[in-house]
Amino acid sequence: MAKSLFIKTYGCQMNVYDSARMADLLAPLGYAATDRPDDADLVILNTCHIREKAAEKVYSELGRIRQMKQTRQDAGQDMVVAVAGCVAQAEGEEITRRAPVVDMVFGPQSYHQLPELLARVARARGEVLATEFPAQEKFDALPREVSVDGVTAFLAVQEGCDKFCTFCVVPYTRGAEYSRPVAQIVAEAEALVAKGAREITLLGQNVNAYHGADADGRPVPLGDLARRLAEIPGLARIRYTTSHPRDMDDALIAAHGDVAALMPYLHLPVQSGSDRILKAMNRGHTAEHYLRLVEKIRAARPDIALSGDFIVGFPGETDADFEATMALVREVNYASAFSFAYSARPGTPAAALPGQVPEAVKGERLQRLQALLAEQQDAFNAAQVGRTLPVLIEKPGRHAGQMTGRSPYLQPVHLDAPAELAGQIVDVEITGVTARSLAGRRAARPSGLAA
Ligand code: SAH
Ligand code: SF4
Ligand code: F3S
Repeated sequence: MAKSLFIKTYGCQMNVYDSARMADLLAPLGYAATDRPDDADLVILNTCHIREKAAEKVYSELGRIRQMKQTRQDAGQDMVVAVAGCVAQAEGEEITRRAPVVDMVFGPQSYHQLPELLARVARARGEVLATEFPAQEKFDALPREVSVDGVTAFLAVQEGCDKFCTFCVVPYTRGAEYSRPVAQIVAEAEALVAKGAREITLLGQNVNAYHGADADGRPVPLGDLARRLAEIPGLARIRYTTSHPRDMDDALIAAHGDVAALMPYLHLPVQSGSDRILKAMNRGHTAEHYLRLVEKIRAARPDIALSGDFIVGFPGETDADFEATMALVREVNYASAFSFAYSARPGTPAAALPGQVPEAVKGERLQRLQALLAEQQDAFNAAQVGRTLPVLIEKPGRHAGQMTGRSPYLQPVHLDAPAELAGQIVDVEITGVTARSLAGRRAARPSGLAA
């Protein structure tokens, strides 16, 4: 019997990937996606625990879901409510205590058991909890069938983290680092390309720590994996995220210089520019180490667009520490970036540190940092005007006759073009900048840049 499924996704791209795989897993059971929670037989909230706000959003959403479930039950229908993802892993049965509307709680390594969990709920109509950790088992159990929505796709190659930065919940919610074997990844990439993907973003919480096994059991680093994937006919672009400075090895840097499909964009979080704070964060690198790394990467691929993550107001951060972050940003010159006020997460070492920074100070520092980062991003975008860039056309734009795509540097590009161009790489002359995107027109002259 046809049933409808509503999934709401919070947090990082890994959660976006997981949500897509949950839908793939449930399709054979007759579940079709709906974008309306009020008429869904199954509602899944795929949650994020990274900052307090992210976690709290889930409970307010559950309040709304409770009313929808009640309305359905009054009409003689039912609704199964599941909480998945990192809040599920971190808070477990606490969730059903706070929100009795929830029927099922399962962590990021347990969602392959969804069909079985649904059967258990149906049998018992009692709450069901699954928060085990074996990432390998999950990947082995996921269906080979993949669905692709558009021309770009995510592919999880690595999961979990052993770095234990003192502010971060990921090692607790995603578990130990695990790299999928090369053959499994190649098979999934080929399936994605067969379904129309032209660009694949390789995902991992520590993606450049990838060391999956080849057929002989030898570990393969990310740079070599990218080389292998670049051979798949039809796969034009490869990206990866998120990287850690300590795992940025020479092979991967070299790949940026000579693998044409590897796009010139790198998200390389540094978090702070102060060595004292980096040490307290347990990042395992200094500001100088990061700056030298950036130099090496730019030597291999001079036009690479750099992106980063920053935390302001980590416990004990002084004005001088913050100024060191501003100085590092000025020296690197980012094409884009994400920055956050430190949020104390229960159970992480930093939450118990003395010297918690007042919210007002965090807010003021964040504003200054974001103004600088926005200025750099605007300058990077403005510098593209007059250039011709190869743009992967993705989908219709906001206006009739318009399409949008991405430049090699991940900038959204809008242009007038027929819808049939979706999935093609087109040379586009950049004519202007709007908010956070570029405007252009199809160029007569080729770009000379690799696609
Ligand atoms: N694995 C990635 C990203 C992890 S989460 C990495 O190692 O960089 C994404 C970003 O959220 C982090 O880079 C960090 O900047 C931010 N973040 C993580 N924990 C946080 C916290 N407790 N408070 C504020 N920001 C946080
Ligand atoms: Fe979190 Fe640090 Fe691991 Fe990134 S490297 S996921 S910030 S613990
Ligand atoms: Fe959030 Fe979990 Fe991703 S905490 S950022 S959804 S790994």
